[in-house]
Amino acid sequence: MDYAATGQEALSRVESAGDLDALESLRVEFLGKQGSISGLLKTLGKMSPDERKLEGPKIHGLREAVSEGLAARKQALEGAALEARLAGERIDLSLPAPEQPRGSVHPIAQVMDELAEIFADLGFAVETGPEIEDDWHNFTALNMPESHPARAMHDTFYFPDRDDQAREMLLRTHTSPVQIRTMLEQGAPLRVIAPGRVYRSDSDATHTPMFHQIEGLVIDKGIHLGHLKWTLETFLKAYFERDDIVLRLRPSYFPFTEPSVEVDVGYAFEGARRVVGGSGEGPGHAWMELLGSGMVNRRVLEAGGLGPDEWQGFAFGVGVDRLAMLKYGMNDLRAFFDGDVRWLSHFGFSALDVPTLSAGVGTPA
Ligand code: DAH
Repeated sequence: MDYAATGQEALSRVESAGDLDALESLRVEFLGKQGSISGLLKTLGKMSPDERKLEGPKIHGLREAVSEGLAARKQALEGAALEARLAGERIDLSLPAPEQPRGSVHPIAQVMDELAEIFADLGFAVETGPEIEDDWHNFTALNMPESHPARAMHDTFYFPDRDDQAREMLLRTHTSPVQIRTMLEQGAPLRVIAPGRVYRSDSDATHTPMFHQIEGLVIDKGIHLGHLKWTLETFLKAYFERDDIVLRLRPSYFPFTEPSVEVDVGYAFEGARRVVGGSGEGPGHAWMELLGSGMVNRRVLEAGGLGPDEWQGFAFGVGVDRLAMLKYGMNDLRAFFDGDVRWLSHFGFSALDVPTLSAGVGTPA
């Protein structure tokens, strides 16, 4: 038998095996239990010692050569498969970043971050509360019992079901219930802000059914209106990044504060745009109502579990959307929630533009 020819034929078939499966079939065909070369090995047993001496090395040599050929081809095929996979998974780190960064930080998120930064510097912590509230936290504990006329002014969204304490459930109409939750959970003294979503059944160019507020609450001993005014002035100067912020405090009424103060800020027209700053007096200048505030009502302190003879405090509530519009010059509140990518890319902020007091809390992107 011409082992050399058999070997050559086998090796050339192994060489041209296109993949690992084809190679495995060849291995079985040659070296498997029923394989052709295995068959040749079996013939050795029936040979005479002389014959075996002559044929044995040839057959073993053939088996060795084919088995080495199979191993070499296997390695080559596996190497090629790995190369192909690596090439497919390659990331070209030298590719340039996209010219236009996709996605941006919404002005409301940006302003919330700016406010948190400013108040953190004044020692305020950030608190949150549920948007699905009960009427006790949203109204009763804030000195608005069931028959209180102020309840009717809030255009509240109610849920059909009550909670397990038989409290009526609603979408919170303001962030003020977080005052109650924080007092009950943490006691006093307190210095917190509570930013978040609030809901009222109202919709036009300046009202949306969902909007954003930020609540402030300070509880300590010997707190008075002077602390409130200084805090608001300091906050607004930092927020609008100018020193000529002039506030006008007007007596007002909120059930949860006594006395209550409505705060106006002076502004001037620059073209059609209202720019905050300067006293509200004189040609081209006017006052704009900006926020509600006051000294925390004794009954609210009591609802929060605090003794009103020992503790005093002030509170304020501001519309975040309005603060954003005033600083960044948007005029229609509804655009905030339309999700129009042109508006978002125009008014949005870079994710890398983190507000810090040292770098400026809000340089437009
Ligand atoms: N909760 C009031 C509102 O939504 C705003 C407000 C006014 C909050 C006076 C206060 C405050 O904390 O003292 O209209």
